[in-house]
Amino acid sequence: MAKPVLFVTRRLPPSIEAQAARDFSARLTPSDVPIADVLAGAAGADAILCCPGDAMDAALIAALPDSVKVIGTFSVGYDHVDLDAARSRGIRVCNTPDVLSVATAECAMLLILAAARRAGEGERMVRSGAWQGWAPTQLLGTQVSGRRLGIFGMGRIGRELARMARGFEMEVHYRDVARLPPELEHDAIFHDNDDSFLPMCEVLSLNAPGGAGTRHWLTGGRIAKLPRGAVVVNAARGSLVDDQALVAALREGHVAAAGLDVYNNEPHLDPAYLGLENVVLLPHLGSATRETRDAMGRIVLAGIAAVLAGQAPRNLVG
Ligand code: DGY
Repeated sequence: MAKPVLFVTRRLPPSIEAQAARDFSARLTPSDVPIADVLAGAAGADAILCCPGDAMDAALIAALPDSVKVIGTFSVGYDHVDLDAARSRGIRVCNTPDVLSVATAECAMLLILAAARRAGEGERMVRSGAWQGWAPTQLLGTQVSGRRLGIFGMGRIGRELARMARGFEMEVHYRDVARLPPELEHDAIFHDNDDSFLPMCEVLSLNAPGGAGTRHWLTGGRIAKLPRGAVVVNAARGSLVDDQALVAALREGHVAAAGLDVYNNEPHLDPAYLGLENVVLLPHLGSATRETRDAMGRIVLAGIAAVLAGQAPRNLVG
């Protein structure tokens, strides 16, 4: 029997490209396919494997060939795929849950430590040759251990971050639509409103999904409710943040430091961040470990294969 045709929009880890070539008639790509070329690439394909930077919006999905039965995204986040448009075409959508939770939580913890302890400024000082040696008042940051950490979005990644933060003896608070069951909550403290949550957040970590429900959640009004000198980190989606408000708070000092791995309009982040010393900027590498990316590849390929075999895999999101 002929293998199903899979169109892939990006280079994938070598073991995943090899698996795709084994399991599918795979249209692999030597370089990233621009979104304008996705339609041509998908001609006659049964499935598309895309990535967070690919805007699979309503217009593009409406124009996909009838042959396409499933879109798999090489990510846990699927805010770049218009699920309503896919549903109306009868196209299923699957993602890569669970396997990247530890790596992404590690990245959030890295941002917390780097922002609070001014690691970016220190690294730039050493590299530029400006470092004159140890000094009692040099680059004083904020100790993280023992502080209160507020997690906005207590899903799988938020819970991993809470687990790691307990190792730093942080007191964990969280805000989500519903309280976790006791076996998942451990000693984290649930808040059902911003007014009780935000003043607790000496460190605020954004871990909620992107999309219409969380768009620009971190407004100037919410930032004003954080304790003065708070640290803010985002390893979730750039769309959660009102950049103008965060930049203003970083300039004024209400937010002492921020650590960002994700941005509105990636890779064209708001240039104001580049001029701020008190921001650590990473290039969306939350899940970027070899073992995690391999696991993501395996789970998304398995999901696509299952849909094409008429099954409903666990990683279906639409
Ligand atoms: C995801 O999976 O959604 C990340 O943002 C990319 O690793």
